[in-house]
Amino acid sequence: MISLSSTLLALPRSLAFTLYPFRYKSTSYGLFSTTDNNEGMILQQRTDMLRTNSKLSLAPMMEYTDRHFRHLVRLLSPKTLLYTEMVAANAIAHERDNALTSSESDNKSLVDTNFDPSYILRFLGQGHNPEGASVLQLGGSDRDQLYLAAQTVYEFNQMQQKQLQQQNDNKQTPIYCDYSAINLNCGCPSPKVAGKGCFGAALMQEPDLVRRLTSSMYNGSQGTMPITVKCRIGTDEGYTFNQKEYLSRSEEDEYQNLKRFVEVVASDSIVTDFQIHARIAVLGKNYSPADNRKVPPLRYNHVRRLAEEYPELNISLNGGVDTLTAVKRELDECGSLDGVMVGRGYAANPWSFAMADEILYGNDSSTSRPKNRLEVLEAYGKHADYEEETYDPTRIRRFMTKAISHLFAGEPNAKRYRILLDEYAGIPKKLERERKQNPNAIQADQPPISELIMNAATTHLSEEVLYRSPEESYEKMLWDEEQAERKKNVVGTVIMNGAAQDDSNSTKTLVQEWQSSRKEETRLDISA
Ligand SMILES: Cc1cc2nc3c(=O)[nH]c(=O)nc-3n(C[C@H](O)[C@H](O)[C@H](O)COP(=O)(O)O)c2cc1C
Repeated sequence: MISLSSTLLALPRSLAFTLYPFRYKSTSYGLFSTTDNNEGMILQQRTDMLRTNSKLSLAPMMEYTDRHFRHLVRLLSPKTLLYTEMVAANAIAHERDNALTSSESDNKSLVDTNFDPSYILRFLGQGHNPEGASVLQLGGSDRDQLYLAAQTVYEFNQMQQKQLQQQNDNKQTPIYCDYSAINLNCGCPSPKVAGKGCFGAALMQEPDLVRRLTSSMYNGSQGTMPITVKCRIGTDEGYTFNQKEYLSRSEEDEYQNLKRFVEVVASDSIVTDFQIHARIAVLGKNYSPADNRKVPPLRYNHVRRLAEEYPELNISLNGGVDTLTAVKRELDECGSLDGVMVGRGYAANPWSFAMADEILYGNDSSTSRPKNRLEVLEAYGKHADYEEETYDPTRIRRFMTKAISHLFAGEPNAKRYRILLDEYAGIPKKLERERKQNPNAIQADQPPISELIMNAATTHLSEEVLYRSPEESYEKMLWDEEQAERKKNVVGTVIMNGAAQDDSNSTKTLVQEWQSSRKEETRLDISA
């Protein structure tokens, strides 16, 4: 099974490209197809999908951006580019191997092989509706494993196409596995990842390896998938990171290192899209992933400069951009930037991005999008019911309720809604325990999850909140942001005028107000 990839990888690069001819040539702006083969057309369509949806993307986040949360975000915005959680390439390669072995056939491909797809779909499944523009993120540093993981995505996509063709005959819902691109994780600083050989952010120290890995992923997808790279602006290689040391280092050197990394990785013209978290990754053991998302300073200037110097590349800025207003500001301030990627801000308050298509693209999504959060939950309930009919609720219920738990962030009684959702999330496991303790007892029928979700919302949230439209919510958000900004400025002025000592009472109130708005910001930081 590994022979195809090994054979291919053993070939000189020029020959490998004869087998898998590269269909694109960079122009000063954009790409064009140079062959009319089917793979080339598919690749072109997917590249177009990336290009036309790149202004805002949902960052890959382990235990957050699963297919349920992605489904929620897609309900809110038909255009946002969705990233999956990172999936380890070796896990997919391993399951693929198991599937082929268990089928007891001589097939070298999963297509037309009899096997249980559920093990692989744990990693790759997209739910029962087309997901739109979405990117699968892989983690790994082994060329064969990345090849096989990409090949598995390709094969599942072929199986999906076949099922879609037969759908009218047997009414079977296809297994969706239709990603617009595959992304390589070169930004994760977790010691678990960075410590194991060269993996995650540690790959930034080996740009040529990254070039070979991405080439292998491209070949594994049989030339049908754009390959993109998510990285940092650098790492702490060669020195001990602390604030003083870091600030005394040359920013120009830091930029040149980033530039070198990007140039080497892009030199095959396979990778043309980079999502750059504008902090260095500190790989030392004393820094947790959460520290690594907060402590190293953000340096947007490097990402902006890269976007300006390489207009032929598609560059997205990531890190610390938490609101739709801030996304728009970043795109307006740097016209060369192709997109902004948002992680924690999206997870903490998905509804605050419901107007993304209107604000960023000028698209009127009001007809294709639920009119308010009650309608969002109605639509989400359909997804949740389908999932529970298909998979074991004891395993998936918590993930489904988690995805919608911050839909009412900042609203009165949002916490009560979350607590009730949490209670409902525990029901399948509780029933399972009771069944084990007393197998003969008759258990009452349970309402479908869609009903429970609606109940959690309608029990605790006001009609005004439930029926508020995205437009009204956006206006309210702008007003809140303006007020917060005003308070910040007033506090700054009062303190600078020395009034803090003269009029301690009024200053205290303002400072307290400012502090509570800061607390709110901290609450939004969901980093694990
Ligand atoms: C809980 C959590 C899990 C994450 N998991 C991943 C991951 O699987 N892959 C990845 O490339 N980045 C991961 N990240 C990093 C985010 O993609 C993003 O780069 C980082 O949070 C900075 O963006 P933000 O300030 O908008 O949150 C994770 C971040 C968080 C908070």
